[in-house]
Amino acid sequence: MAKKLYIKTYGCQMNVYDSARMADVLAPLGYAPSATAEDADMVILNTCHIREKAAEKVYSELGRLRPLKTQKGERGEPMILAVAGCVAQAEGAEILARAPFVDIVLGPQTYHRLPEMVARAARAGSQVLDTEFPADGKFDFLPETAAPQGVSAFLSVQEGCDKFCTFCVVPYTRGAEFSRPAADVVAEARRLVAQGAREITLLGQNVNAWRGGDGGFGGLLRRLAAIAGLARLRYTTSHPLDVDDALIAAHRELPTLMPFLHLPVQSGSDAMLAAMNRRHRADDYRRIIERLRAARPDIAFSSDFIVGFPGESDQDFAATLALIREIGFAQAFSFKYSKRPGTPAAALPDQVPEAVKAERLAALQALVAEQQRRFNAAALGREMAVLFEKRGRHQGQLAGRSPYLQPVHAAAPDALIGRVAPVRITALRPNSLAGEIAATPAEAAP
Ligand code: 5AD
Ligand code: SF4
Repeated sequence: MAKKLYIKTYGCQMNVYDSARMADVLAPLGYAPSATAEDADMVILNTCHIREKAAEKVYSELGRLRPLKTQKGERGEPMILAVAGCVAQAEGAEILARAPFVDIVLGPQTYHRLPEMVARAARAGSQVLDTEFPADGKFDFLPETAAPQGVSAFLSVQEGCDKFCTFCVVPYTRGAEFSRPAADVVAEARRLVAQGAREITLLGQNVNAWRGGDGGFGGLLRRLAAIAGLARLRYTTSHPLDVDDALIAAHRELPTLMPFLHLPVQSGSDAMLAAMNRRHRADDYRRIIERLRAARPDIAFSSDFIVGFPGESDQDFAATLALIREIGFAQAFSFKYSKRPGTPAAALPDQVPEAVKAERLAALQALVAEQQRRFNAAALGREMAVLFEKRGRHQGQLAGRSPYLQPVHAAAPDALIGRVAPVRITALRPNSLAGEIAATPAEAAP
């Protein structure tokens, strides 16, 4: 009988991808996905450490799962409980000590060894800890057959980070930069397309630092764009330092590469950028944006911002607002600085009071919301290429995405799922655009 696997995923797309791959490696052991922990034979918490109190949240989730595990055990249905991801990497043995009912703790680099860990935990009834950074990369061990991801698929090409921004835990939890070889990436992309993917988003903590083959990341994009049947290519997350000529050329020359880029800048103040160890100035960022716009005039940008980094003055913050006004973002994520233990910034003097952080965050978010509103409003009356992914909530309606990742709904036949069609945008909804197919399906691009 099939065993059931429930994975709860926190945090970034990287974790979403990792969760899917953990499900893949456990499938041969007879585990099938389950939507709830209640009927699961194995529960994995795939955790995120990027923000404050991450570990505490994991412990309280474990506390909730404990009675379930006990009850199931008493009924003779043992449940394996595993903690994966970045909190597992950071806390390690501490989790096994504080939550002795946890069976497995594994870091992001070892999930290819999960079947072995499950066997050990089940056999010996002992706890298993594996937070190594093994020399044999996990990418070498991924099964060839993975569950299809649908029209829009994710593909992990790079992991880890060597940048050491002073606020960030990623270099510690995900380890050094590692690039998956080009041949493997291309093979997996082909497999995804054969399984029905029309859009692939390349993932990496520092995806444009990919160095797994000739021509750098721009060269990889070029090879992937040549795959027949692939309509759209995206990548996330990037660092401005790794935007090179080859990448800009890729944006100029590859129509498949979507004109929407998430390029975190964090701050518009040179003093803050230096203190954050971002290793570029605000003007360098402006110049990159300019060059990308020259290469691809319809490109739009998204970014990440941190407010209230230690020492941030009113002037520093004003410089961030000025940068946002000047560039104009289609969307942005913003965060109050939060201390991450073990990172250099946590020890800095001049920590900014909570109330000031809250005030700055509100001001920044209001500005970005206005820019986002204007960006969406500009779509009204225009024709946009929409990749339809699935049926919408209403009968006869499909849901898809614009080149800018805006959700779009339109009345359209099921046959358009997995195809790009021109849609005239007729209405703005709170979180999406509505439109009408602007050409018959026969005219629609494949
Ligand atoms: N405090 C606040 N925001 C942070 N981020 C990363 N670390 C911190 C921190 N300590 C934000 C950055 C990064 C995004 C993924 O999370 O903006 O780009
Ligand atoms: Fe963290 Fe900076 Fe690396 Fe991004 S580039 S993962 S913010 S250290």
